[in-house]
Amino acid sequence: MSQPDVFPPSEEFVRRARVQGMEGYRALYDDALRDPEEFWGDVARREVHWFEPWKTVLDWQPPAAQWFVGGKTNVSYNCLDRHLDGPRKNKVAIQWEGEPGEQRAITYLDLHRLVVRFASVLKARGHKAGDRAIIYMPMIPEAVVAMLACTRLGIIHSVVFGGFSAEALKARIQDLGAAAVITADGGYRRGKEIKLKPAVDEALEECPTVRDCIVYRRTGSETTMKDGRDLWWHDLDETATEDCPAVPLDSEHPLFVLYTSGTTGKPKGILHTTGGYLTYVTATMKWVFDLREEDTFWCNADIGWVTGHSYVVYGPLSAGATGVLYEGAPDYPAFDRWWRIVEKYRVNILYTSPTAIRALIRQGEQWPNGHDLSSLRLLGSVGEPINPAAWEWYHRVIGKGRCPIVDTWWQTETGGILIAPMPGAVPLKPGSGTLPMPGLLPAIVDIKGNEVVPGQEGFLIMRRPWPSMIRTIWGDPERYKEQYWSQIPGAYFTGDAARCDEDGYYWVLGRVDDVMNVSGHRLSTMEVESALVKHAAVAEAAVVGKPHEITGQAVCCFVTLKKGAHDHTALGKELRNWVAHEIGAFARPEEIRFTDALPKTRSGKIMRRLLRELVTNKTVAGDVTTLEDMSVINTLAAQHDED
Ligand code: WT7
Repeated sequence: MSQPDVFPPSEEFVRRARVQGMEGYRALYDDALRDPEEFWGDVARREVHWFEPWKTVLDWQPPAAQWFVGGKTNVSYNCLDRHLDGPRKNKVAIQWEGEPGEQRAITYLDLHRLVVRFASVLKARGHKAGDRAIIYMPMIPEAVVAMLACTRLGIIHSVVFGGFSAEALKARIQDLGAAAVITADGGYRRGKEIKLKPAVDEALEECPTVRDCIVYRRTGSETTMKDGRDLWWHDLDETATEDCPAVPLDSEHPLFVLYTSGTTGKPKGILHTTGGYLTYVTATMKWVFDLREEDTFWCNADIGWVTGHSYVVYGPLSAGATGVLYEGAPDYPAFDRWWRIVEKYRVNILYTSPTAIRALIRQGEQWPNGHDLSSLRLLGSVGEPINPAAWEWYHRVIGKGRCPIVDTWWQTETGGILIAPMPGAVPLKPGSGTLPMPGLLPAIVDIKGNEVVPGQEGFLIMRRPWPSMIRTIWGDPERYKEQYWSQIPGAYFTGDAARCDEDGYYWVLGRVDDVMNVSGHRLSTMEVESALVKHAAVAEAAVVGKPHEITGQAVCCFVTLKKGAHDHTALGKELRNWVAHEIGAFARPEEIRFTDALPKTRSGKIMRRLLRELVTNKTVAGDVTTLEDMSVINTLAAQHDED
């Protein structure tokens, strides 16, 4: 392999950076390695306000971690109240833009008032610490208000991405036993209203635990309200008070549950807790994004994903930043919408995904070139490995060759960024997340848990616990243990394949399990398969990810039909819509392929590996000795040649 290009930070960047040069990075990293508990204790004291100090930094009984045991804090207090005594009180916290063009500049004081009022309403209606609330909203400030109001009282929130269907929403409400659903009539995307309330109504037909459904009026379109269950946000606000202090909560009090796809059909509710999560996301805001007081930070992930939790809401607000929040699509009304926003608010730090970059590349350079992007000083990438062409374009066309790109590797389970360059310290190699954060001890191992030599591919694991790590899977501690801590005894198993080069840089290659990555969204093959087999015409289904130029992977389904059902184009379309209805539009398969049989082992297990190979390379060269009937794969390969 040829040596990759290396991009050291410019002198100018280093001079003003929080962490300067490799010496700066090494000092932090070595410090943490020497005495992790002392290190994290210092970080937590510096970055977070505690009502009561902790007694023990870490109680580690693998796989159960407790951080800052005995300490009391509150996330909403840290994101709001603590900024009000100083120069940040009238600083803009959220610079919001609606897709149709409305603008709201919400200061810390404004946001505090909105959160206190909404929390007072929740409290008055009897919602309290430990109860669960679902948030199903568009990208509007009230979504952030709802999240922070929950944390103020210790209500465990679960944000469900607005692109999920009624079915997916229902499953999450039920799994969590939520007492409240906070939603809106709808939101805007590509010039159209996307309604949310009808999906909530459909879901709530089978959710007896929900007492209150609170609806924010965003679009003003016709909305049916059910008596005794549905309440308008603006009506409740008339009864709100401004006396609703943040509740001091145990450091390990559950903060939120976020559902993500695993290797089975059932999504996992990833649980994060209070003190450790807050400490870690605040620290990484500064280490990775080199955040300065005057920066305008724009992470354009949806709040329904973990990136939205950690780097749209909690990280930036806890660090006292000004963040941009944009409701709609990047291509509305034209392909330069993002660049208009960067120019208009003079965005300094932009954090986005390779899939978005690739989609924008396709539209041409004239769109960004028509705008003044000179305010940008740092770019970020997350969600999947960034391919060389996307890196080069992002660096040259958006960053004008001036801005470092921080490629950040992490997961819903990790809560915050674990592997990424500190931009004023670590020389970049395009496509690599570079080096671990302080206190993290990654390794690349083989299936037996032995470390492999530099350059060799293996499984990425973490040998030490970190403050923002997953605590458990909601309602399923066994699955937590089994999934993350049983593959390699004593270590956290990420589910990713990776290699580490001679310089200690990590190169993540992708998932080793049956999890697909479509536009940076995680989707399980089994989840799509279970959706398909629920359809009356489908006998069996096997789903694999197929390489896709823009979205990274696309969903490709092999389907056998029940007797009497006939494959035809209309059924293909129907099944694609069916999956969108069962899971959400973002899961709509790109391709449905009808087949008489699926490749199986003699014991009847579907060999997805062969199908993956088939859609990737168009032929199957791998080991087929366990395949029961070779003709199945030959037929599928021949079908492919005809396409
Ligand atoms: C999976 C986690 C973390 C927020 C977004 C996704 C892949 C994520 C990178 C990166 C290579 C990456 C991994 C990981 N991934 N970031 N910078 N380079 N791969 O969160 O849905 O929990 O997915 O996304 O495969 O395991 P998620």
